[in-house]
Amino acid sequence: MTTDYLIEPGGRLFGRIRVPGDKSISHRALMLGALGDGVTHIEGLLQGQDVLATLAAFRAMGVDIVEPQAGHLTISGVGLDGLRRPGHPLDMGNSGTAMRLMSGILAAQPFDSELVGDSSLHKRPMRRVVEPLNAMGACIKTADGDCPPLSIKGGQRLQGIDYVMPVASAQVKSALLLAGLYADGVTAVTELATTRDHTERMLKGFGYDVSTADHTVRLQGGGRLTGCDIQVPGDLSSAAFFLVGAAIAPASTLQLEGVGVNPTRSGVLTLLQRMGADVELHHRREIGGEMIADIHVRHSRLRGITIPEDEVSLAIDEFPILFVAAACADGDTVLRGAGELRVKESDRIAVMAMGLQQLGVTVQEMADGVTIRGGQINGGVVDTQGDHRVAMAFAMAGLRSQAPLTIGACENVDTSFPGFVEMAATAGLGIRTVHAA
Ligand code: S3P
Repeated sequence: MTTDYLIEPGGRLFGRIRVPGDKSISHRALMLGALGDGVTHIEGLLQGQDVLATLAAFRAMGVDIVEPQAGHLTISGVGLDGLRRPGHPLDMGNSGTAMRLMSGILAAQPFDSELVGDSSLHKRPMRRVVEPLNAMGACIKTADGDCPPLSIKGGQRLQGIDYVMPVASAQVKSALLLAGLYADGVTAVTELATTRDHTERMLKGFGYDVSTADHTVRLQGGGRLTGCDIQVPGDLSSAAFFLVGAAIAPASTLQLEGVGVNPTRSGVLTLLQRMGADVELHHRREIGGEMIADIHVRHSRLRGITIPEDEVSLAIDEFPILFVAAACADGDTVLRGAGELRVKESDRIAVMAMGLQQLGVTVQEMADGVTIRGGQINGGVVDTQGDHRVAMAFAMAGLRSQAPLTIGACENVDTSFPGFVEMAATAGLGIRTVHAA
């Protein structure tokens, strides 16, 4: 079954909304909860398909997880050595985070396992985790082209390594730290550009000793994780669609409550403010080691900017919607040093450039980025190639389009943002869905 969005042009966003829980934190909460000693209670868990794939994987390895209800979930942790061999390949669906982080955990288990996913995930590069994990002593094989499925041979003794990541990736860092929990000696991961640090923060919340200095994270294997209570903040990557929607649609004023604003993740806020967006953070507070805030955004006139390359990793998931902001801004927005966007759920540079061009926007595509000239957005049909964030970004573009938009293949929005259509419609977007067999 495919789902298209039909968007009526114009409108404005207003009111107060609370977006679903953070996807990155939800995956990690399940993983550490499963590997912890004792019970972990989670509030605000994202019940999107990506996170549910992680949940199903732990159930298949014998972890008792009560069915989540309205974001509340209880896990009885089995401890670091308590997982059991799954009876079937573990299906990570569309989720690169689930596959890469799980590869770090599974590399250290006494049993063999296999990680599979959907057609998008099977095109994504895995060498970035497989190579350093194998250097730690793991035995992981990929399919041709270094893509999934991953076959992981159990019973290997892992050794801590000192690893400088060639790509700025929190997924790689996290996979190595998770494997490092089981390794002899110290595992040290150095990043050349800042990536989200949810794993480090949450490991500390589970009582594990983790140190960070000069862009290097270190931990010593052989400790224990102690189950705890976790409150998952709203996902800034989901909030970003509404932030930009309200920024570009005349007469909008919108309050987003309880959104995670971890500084390793909040690049979208600074970039939008630099573009002239009227975005204010209120009631900043820390919960369970993560910063959260209420974000207030009003419509304002945006201007194009040159995005500094060292800020790309701080907003890596927000570029589809930032491209829409750029299309509505005065002048050019220039992005370079963002080649990673080509290996996300789709090639986000190509798919966004093609979609915007389809709607009459002037876009110059480069190997590692784009230049977007702000101007009029026409109506028309856009192909998302099944990418959830591309779908939601083009939905918001309807707030400024001259005629209706049809956005194809939006079914994967449920991977990260269940309830997007209802929330967007309540906030004022003219959106409806059409399903086809
Ligand atoms: C994530 C890290 C990012 C991001 C992804 C979630 C995570 O990927 O794009 O959506 O939870 O660690 P990379 O670390 O590969 O850039």
